[in-house]
Amino acid sequence: METPLIAFEEVSKLYHMGDSIVVAADKISMEIYRGEFVAIVGQSGSGKSTCMNIIGCLDVPTSGRYLLDGQDVGKMNKNQLAEIRNKMLGFIFQQYNLLPKLTLLENVMVPLMYAGVPLRERKQRAMDALESVGLASKYKHRPNQLSGGQQQRVSIARALVGMPSVILADEPTGALDSKTGREVLNILQGLNQQGNTVVLITHDNSIAATAKRIIRLEDGRVIYDGPSDDPKAFVRGGMAAGETGGAPA
Ligand SMILES: Nc1ncnc2c1ncn2[C@@H]1O[C@H](COP(=O)(O)OP(=O)(O)OP(=O)(O)O)[C@@H](O)[C@H]1O
Ligand SMILES: [Mg+2]
Repeated sequence: METPLIAFEEVSKLYHMGDSIVVAADKISMEIYRGEFVAIVGQSGSGKSTCMNIIGCLDVPTSGRYLLDGQDVGKMNKNQLAEIRNKMLGFIFQQYNLLPKLTLLENVMVPLMYAGVPLRERKQRAMDALESVGLASKYKHRPNQLSGGQQQRVSIARALVGMPSVILADEPTGALDSKTGREVLNILQGLNQQGNTVVLITHDNSIAATAKRIIRLEDGRVIYDGPSDDPKAFVRGGMAAGETGGAPA
């Protein structure tokens, strides 16, 4: 049987807030396989970022296990975590997180530097990645000379350049107008069609509908896990029967 790329086994995450405890993730179990395009969707406070941080090896569960390509992330030390993060994960954030003093080419080269790739190969691969998002001609520019959508495309190139096993995008269109946001989603869709595994995190149903599969969270629990073309994917748990829950147009 194929090993899932991402496996949550009853993952819980608890936060202590003074005397009370917040259950940000409540025994979440899920499996994501190579080549999938999954959206993790839910309202504010439902646990999306909590899951993203665990998937991205930026945080560990309070209880339960997270296996990344069969390896128990909870058993790794800081160095192993940093290494697996660099090798297996490509991050795309709402606020691009590009380094303002570096050129676009240099920004895209950064993850390869940590991976110890020789300079010549770093340059070549970074150029190829910029080319794949249509920005090769601007390689000498700096981030502040670009539009928001272009900056996000550079951050996609940076996420791609290390050939990660998973591309993790947290509200990647959150800072963009809808047309530019659509272009960014089209790029993610294209990457998935080329075989990349993409996990998209969003509160927005119409954005989530770009993915093939939806995992819907509510109060730290999974309330739907299945295809995005099932209308049930867009119904919130507490809603009366018959309401649509804002299904995408
Ligand atoms: N560091 C923390 N300390 C205490 N509580 C936290 C912490 N991080 C998250 N929480 C709580 O855990 C719950 C889930 O938060 P999370 O950030 O995962 O939600 P989210 O779905 O990403 O929301 P949003 O759409 O607003 O980003 C919320 O109730 C939140 O207040
Ligand atoms: Mg969040």
